[in-house]
Formats: sequence, C-alpha cells, structure tokens
Amino acid sequence: MTILVTGGAGFIGANFIIDWLQTRNEVVVNLDKLTYAGNLRNLTSVEDNQNYAFIQGDIGDSALIPKLLAEYKPRAVINFAAESHVDRSIHCAEDFIGTNVVGVYRLLNNILSHWSELPETEKAGFRFLHVSTDEVYGALEPDEPAFTEDNSYKPNNPYSASKAASDHLVRAFHHTYGLPVLTTNCSNNYGPFQFPEKLIPLFIHNALAQKSLPLYGDGRQVRDWLYVRDHCAAIRQVLEAGEVGEVYNIGGNNEKTNLEIANMLCEILDEIRPGNGAESYKSLITLVKDRPGHDRRYAMDSSRIQRDLGWRASETVESGIRKTVSWYLENQDWVAATTGGDYHNWVRKQYR
Ligand code: NAD
Ligand code: DAU
Repeated sequence: MTILVTGGAGFIGANFIIDWLQTRNEVVVNLDKLTYAGNLRNLTSVEDNQNYAFIQGDIGDSALIPKLLAEYKPRAVINFAAESHVDRSIHCAEDFIGTNVVGVYRLLNNILSHWSELPETEKAGFRFLHVSTDEVYGALEPDEPAFTEDNSYKPNNPYSASKAASDHLVRAFHHTYGLPVLTTNCSNNYGPFQFPEKLIPLFIHNALAQKSLPLYGDGRQVRDWLYVRDHCAAIRQVLEAGEVGEVYNIGGNNEKTNLEIANMLCEILDEIRPGNGAESYKSLITLVKDRPGHDRRYAMDSSRIQRDLGWRASETVESGIRKTVSWYLENQDWVAATTGGDYHNWVRKQYR
C-alpha cells in the first residue's frame, strides 16, 4: 500500500511524513516542487527509509501526475502543496493562483482520470484528502462562536481566497463526478521545521539575534494555535475514518493574542537562553504597521472531528511552544541554512 503526499518538503507535510513513517508501515511518496518554502533538510531523518520516496515536481504538471499515479498506484493522495504565507500573497498573488487554484484543479483532474479507471474495489477505497485552512471562513468578532463546518466562506486576503477556491473545486469534484474526497480546515500550526517567515519561528529567530520582534498593528489579533503533530494525527484519523465528501475543522482550542504569544516566547527564552544582561527579550517587541486587511480573530470548533473520529489535541499552547523553542535552539544549523539569500530579501521587503 502507498500514499502520495504533495508538498511534503514544507512545514506540515514534512512533519506528517516523519509522523507517518513512525506510526505506519506503508510507503509514502513525496511530490514537492521545492519552492523557497520546500526544504529537503526537513526530511533528512527519513531520507534512507525504504518506505519513503521523493520526487521533485509540480502538482500542476499534467505530464508528471498521471505517470506518478500509474507507477505508484497510491490508495490515497494528501494535498499539502500550496503557497501558504499571507504576507507574500499581499505583495503578489500570482503564485498563489498558480498553485492553490490552477495547480489544485489540474491535480484533481488527473486524479479523477486515474480514479475513474480503477477496478471497483480500489475505486471504493481511494481517497483524496485536501488540507486547508480556517482562514477561508473570514474573521470573527470577539464575542462570536468559533467557526463550524457550516460557516459560510468569506476569505479576506489573496491567500485565503485562493485556498477557498481550491476547497470549492474539491467539493465540486465530489459532487459532480463522485471523486471520494475529504477536506480538513485547520487553525494556525506551529512546531519544528516552520519557515522563519511565520510569527513564532520569526520571533524566536529575531530574539536570538537581538533584533526587534515586529508585531503588526496593536498585536491584539487572535489565532487558535495547534501543535503541528496534533494536526498530523488529525489528518491520519480523517484519512482512515472520515466520511467521504465531509469537511472536518481542526483547532487547538488555544486562542491567544499575538502579544500573548510574543510574551510567552520571550519568557521561555528568558528562562532557558537569557539574552543581554538582565533585560528581558520583551524589550525587543515593537509595534509596526498593520498587515492590510488583517483578520482580527480566528477560532475553530472541532466538535465534529472530536465526536465522530475521537481526535483530541495532546499539546497545550504552553507545552507545545516550549517544545518548539527548544527545537529551534537545538537546530540552529537548520535555521542558518533556511535563512540565506532569498530570506534576507524577503525580510528587507516586508519589514523595511
Ligand atoms: P509551507 O509553505 O511550509 O509548504 C508548502 C510546500 O508545498 C513546500 O514544500 C513547497 O515547496 C510545496 N509546493 C508549493 N507549490 C507547489 C506545487 N505547485 N507543486 C508541488 N509542491 C509545491 O506550507 P505549510 O505551512 O506546511 O502548509 C501546508 C498546507 O497546510 C497548505 O495547504 C496550507 O494552506 C495548509 N495550512 C497551513 C497552516 C499553517 O498554520 N501553516 C494551517 C492550516 C492549513
Ligand atoms: O490560520 C491558518 C493560517 O495560519 C494558515 O492557513 C497559513 O498558511 C499560515 O501562514 C497562518 O497564517 P497567519 O497569517 O495567521 O500566520 P502568520 O504566522 O503569518 O501570522 C500569525 C499572526 O501574527 C497574524 O495575526 C499576523 C501576525 N504577525 C505575523 C508576522 C509574520 C505579526 O504580528 N508580525 C509578523 O511579523
């Protein structure tokens, strides 16, 4: 048996593959384009595993995908591949439309052709699992209940609009052609191997270099934080037992403001890697110009996946962030290798 994972050299995909190989005796094929966010260093611990294969390529490559499907005959495809950074989508959304919309459409189309030709028993067991985000639902007011799967889609930035488009395509391929799909919409992940353009790894990286910690606007925006390995476990459970055509919201039930997260990171670093003399890392927190169209609050109601599939997050935000800070401290070689040339150009452009 084999599964095909796309975008497995990125943050969540790499954690998923490592997790999969630790918990399952089943081949995983990783298709990744290796954009700036894809990093094979994330997978050095599994590169010699006989159940792992890597192929560099694009989900939108309609010559490659049919060949891969014919060669590996996966029982499932799990789509992590995406352009994922909101701030980059605000500068230019071209690549987001290319991968998250056109790429997903072509991937679905090629999978549909392959699936249609499978013998009935394999057809019935096949799954396409699409990994998506809470951002498709838009933003919540402070007193509104968390997003359920029945909330309407109101994406507010080019990234979330492109992910919303992909979710709609996945739904349509099920409704129109019967393709056996599953969709997961998850809240903010954090943990090992996250590229230091996102809030938590950026702040750890900057703090260790005694650089400012740039909080957008008033720093009171709320995110629902989930440790990445909890997300991976949820995806495994949805893949094995999720109802075809269904959507599952996944969240950590850990709503925190960005300021609270920044303070928590600084307190942990003050304790385990004290910086300059008696001064706390908190002195580096700096309020900067807000993100345009910045969503004020996200929160996920995970009742469905908890009730129907028995999934629960195992980390609290406090335990998960502590583990994450330790991982970054112990993996400064990884950080140095991922924050070279292009990274500096991005930081200059975004924070000048
Ligand atoms: P990431 O940016 O770290 O990784 C994306 C990966 O996809 C990279 O390895 C990249 O090389 C690859 N990729 C990009 N375009 C590709 C293409 N056309 N063909 C093949 N590979 C391509 O992203 P992430 O944070 O790991 O997110 C993974 C998925 O989870 C995304 O779909 C994202 O929308 C979703 N998601 C992320 C979060 C989060 O907090 N990071 C939360 C919810 C959902
Ligand atoms: O909610 C799920 C989404 O979470 C995923 O779909 C996205 O792929 C993922 O990137 C993430 O999006 P966010 O925009 O929420 O993540 P980011 O880490 O970029 O920002 C988290 C919060 O921190 C957000 O309110 C913006 C703020 N922020 C971010 C950066 C990079 C800052 O205040 N300063 C910063 O420098």
